[in-house]
This record gives sequence, structure tokens and C-alpha cells, in this order.
Amino acid sequence: MTSERMILHRYGDVSSTNDLVKEMADKGAPEWTTVVAQSQSAGRGRMGRPWHSPKGNLYMSVLLRPKILPSELPRMSILSSLAVFMALYRNNASMNLRWPNDILLDGRKIAGVLLEGRTQSDRVDYVVLGMGINLNLSETDIPEDLIGKIASVHEVDPGLKVDDLIVKLERKLIKYCQSYRGEDWSAARSEWIRHATEETGCKDVDGIKTVRGRPVDMTDDGWLVLNTDHGLVTVGPGDLSGAVE
Ligand code: BTN
Repeated sequence: MTSERMILHRYGDVSSTNDLVKEMADKGAPEWTTVVAQSQSAGRGRMGRPWHSPKGNLYMSVLLRPKILPSELPRMSILSSLAVFMALYRNNASMNLRWPNDILLDGRKIAGVLLEGRTQSDRVDYVVLGMGINLNLSETDIPEDLIGKIASVHEVDPGLKVDDLIVKLERKLIKYCQSYRGEDWSAARSEWIRHATEETGCKDVDGIKTVRGRPVDMTDDGWLVLNTDHGLVTVGPGDLSGAVE
């Protein structure tokens, strides 16, 4: 059992919860410092994409100080997306994980995780886990290019309150984000693969322009092994920028 708790700071509108937590981290804030905002004016996603952040959804960033090598950082990406997935999971809903850290409902994105942080050559100073979870997007909230590609938690859990979701996330993040060693890590990566039933595409891997395949395994460092038309292909952090949806 662990006695860890999140140290929660609540805001109204912010630029980006990740930026606030990074500022706190640079000033020495402790692990599990967490910022939740009602909306973001400059929310961002992976690959420099904007993260549309109107009121009504959950925008949350958590500070971690894992004792890992920079080369082991992909493990944190796996563990954080698994934690968010397990917090949102409903037995009879068609939910799955898509590499590297998207959570899908019926093939539409319900949540995404952005990992940022500061590393030295031989250690990780801190990691900021930024989570964007669509709770209750109305059709008018959804940008035109995303219609049909995103979903809301309320489709499967209409009564879910944001504070109850924060409590569920706290439990799962504390459980999974500390599982980056030994048997805990082995169990977590198998669990991730079990829920990663979505095909994944990646550009420019091993000299191949685009590969597409089902996740079948994961290396010890947290790289994904795909079963593709070109055989088994391993995609890692360097390939993430080439991930295609
Ligand atoms: C993705 O591209 O899928 C990741 C999206 C992450 C968005 C969240 S919202 C809270 C935190 N603050 C940000 O600016 N981004 C992350």
C-alpha cells in the first residue's frame, strides 16, 4: 500500500496546465503536485497540435519524479495512458488504447496524454503528465476537422462528475505510474498490450515509408512491436513523431 496523495491546485482558465506544473517543478514542487483547470487558452497536444480546451472537460497535469534513466521514459508514457484508460474503463463499452497514449471509445478519441519534462544525460529530473479528457462535448464544441473522430465520457457514463473522475484518476495514476520496475512493469506492459486492440500506423520506420499493424508485444524499454505486412516491426520514441492516426 502507498500513502501517496495528489496535491491538487484548481484553476479557472489557464494557458496550459502543463506549463503551470512545469513552472512549479522548476521551483522544486514535490511529486504528485497536480493542476486542474476548467479551460485552457493554449492547450497543446502531441506533435505541437493544439488541444481544443473549452469548459466542461477535464484538463489535468501531474508532476512525477520517477527514478529512471532517460532511455526508460517510454515506460512512463505506457503507464500513464494505462492509468487513464483504467480510470475511464467501463466493462461493456468498446474502449481501447492506441499507441502511444490515446484512449478510444468506439474508435474515437476520448482522452490523450502529453508527456513533457526535464532530463539530464543520466537521469530524469521530472515528468509532467498532461491529460485531456473529453467529458461532455456538444456537437457545437467539436471543431469541424474532428467531427466523428472524438467522443465524450458521458456517452458511456452520463452521470460522471468531474470530481469523481479526479479521484479515480488519482488512484490509478498512483498505482500504475509507480510500476516502472521489475514484475510490476512486466504486468503493466502486458495489460497495455491486452487493451491495445487498435491498429497503429507509423511513418519512416526501418526504411519503410508507412507501416501499419496490430500491437503484439512491447520491449523492456517500452517500445512497441507491431505485426505488419513487413513482418514484426518495433517502433520507439524516435518513431513517435511519425505516428499516424
Ligand atoms: C494528445 O495529443 O493526445 C495529448 C493531449 C494532451 C492535452 C492535455 S490537456 C492538459 C494538458 N495541458 C496541455 O496543454 N496539454 C495537456
